[in-house]
Amino acid sequence: PTKLRVSEAFLDAQVGEKVRIQGWVRSFRPQKQNLFLHVNDGSSLKSLQVIAPAAMNDPLLGFGCAVEVRGILKKSPHSKQPVELEAEQIWVIGECNPVDFPFKIKERHSLEYIRQFLHLRCRTNAFSSLLRIRSEATAAVHSYFKNNGFLLVHTPTITSNDCEGAGELFQVEPPGTTFANEGSFFSVPVYLTVSGQLHLEVMSGAFPRVYTFGPTFRAENSQSRRHLAEFFMVEAEISFTESIEDLTKVWKSAFGAAASDFTIISAYIFLSPLHLKDTLDDMLRKSFPVITYTEAIDILKRSSETFTFPTDWGCDLMTEHEKFLVKHCGNIPVFVTDYPHDLKPFYARDNQDHPKHTAAAVDLLVPGVGELSGGSLREERLDLLRSRLGEYLDLRRFGSVPHGGFGLGFERYLQCILGVDNIKDVIPFPRFSHSCLL
Ligand code: 4AD
Ligand code: MG
Repeated sequence: PTKLRVSEAFLDAQVGEKVRIQGWVRSFRPQKQNLFLHVNDGSSLKSLQVIAPAAMNDPLLGFGCAVEVRGILKKSPHSKQPVELEAEQIWVIGECNPVDFPFKIKERHSLEYIRQFLHLRCRTNAFSSLLRIRSEATAAVHSYFKNNGFLLVHTPTITSNDCEGAGELFQVEPPGTTFANEGSFFSVPVYLTVSGQLHLEVMSGAFPRVYTFGPTFRAENSQSRRHLAEFFMVEAEISFTESIEDLTKVWKSAFGAAASDFTIISAYIFLSPLHLKDTLDDMLRKSFPVITYTEAIDILKRSSETFTFPTDWGCDLMTEHEKFLVKHCGNIPVFVTDYPHDLKPFYARDNQDHPKHTAAAVDLLVPGVGELSGGSLREERLDLLRSRLGEYLDLRRFGSVPHGGFGLGFERYLQCILGVDNIKDVIPFPRFSHSCLL
């Protein structure tokens, strides 16, 4: 018999045919005459109802076990499900002891609870849906950039630079290395990358539109709901760009394209009303407000809200400030531009004509999360960079062009569009301080 993915069973095409499915039992109801099971195989949120004569019951059959079922796919007499599988044979492929299995039949477990079982949480409706959405959103990001003339560049994971200069590096060496430069594997200290930006900047000297999408690493000792030690970043770099507006245009459409593509799969959405397609569509229909850092500071100062952290000009915006600004601007994403030069890395372009010393750097703040994405015009003027890195200067010496780019934290993006509170719930294997399980 034809092997069917469970999601295909609902397409009607195979009704009346003999088929076989393989998957995991999501519900189990033995009755006097018949046995009812629901089988899910990860292809969608749907489980296929299997009906079998009671005699086919097997003591090993139960919630959580892996099965293969062969039988005839039939239109169901019940309105609850359009089709069901009338079983001719059921094999238990892998048994599952219900006492030891951490998930219980008919119980709705919280994301916090299932997070304790990283190796099993993909077996829940909640987490398997998140993984499917993550996969779809990844494909949407790639197709957005491909359709808009960007070259995908695989930037390295091991690097000798600290792009952000924030000292949040993980050093890499084979075990037993003494960390003296001589005798170490690469002869120089190397690290897991914090950002692919400098490598993209190299490529933007020959390709005007480049992007990368891969894991980045930060030794940030933070237990917050929006920080990981390993996260995925979407980074884009655009040459011949002279204004922040050019940058924010691409930025918004990248955000929107991936999000609206993703709404096609709204069938997976089960989480909370926040994730309703309408909220997203509504958000994308509006243009995102753009305010300067100086205006943001004024808004914070004028508000009656009490903040834990200072709101003086020159202070970094903290999560509480960012969330306040998003609410203040109507609970839609907002761009904050022209941060104090001292708050941003060396590559950010100096706004020399500003009375206060600012840089052409922008953050995109979003509902529920705060900072989703950061970017800037890059300092392309040789004289202003003279005191900075060697190759970076060479890039300015040979055919330098004005350019800029941004990096968008993919997990924070998923948090925003799905309204998920904790970043650990949108990545299959979260890494954070004191935790690297599996
Ligand atoms: O603001 P960041 O540090 O900017 C850069 O790395 C630039 N080089 C990007 C560029 O212009 N190409 O990081 C970019 C984004 C942040 O806005 C945030 O969404 C995410 O990456 N991010 C994190 N996400 C999860 N856990 C962490 N520890 C993160 N640190 C940054
Ligand atoms: Mg940032």
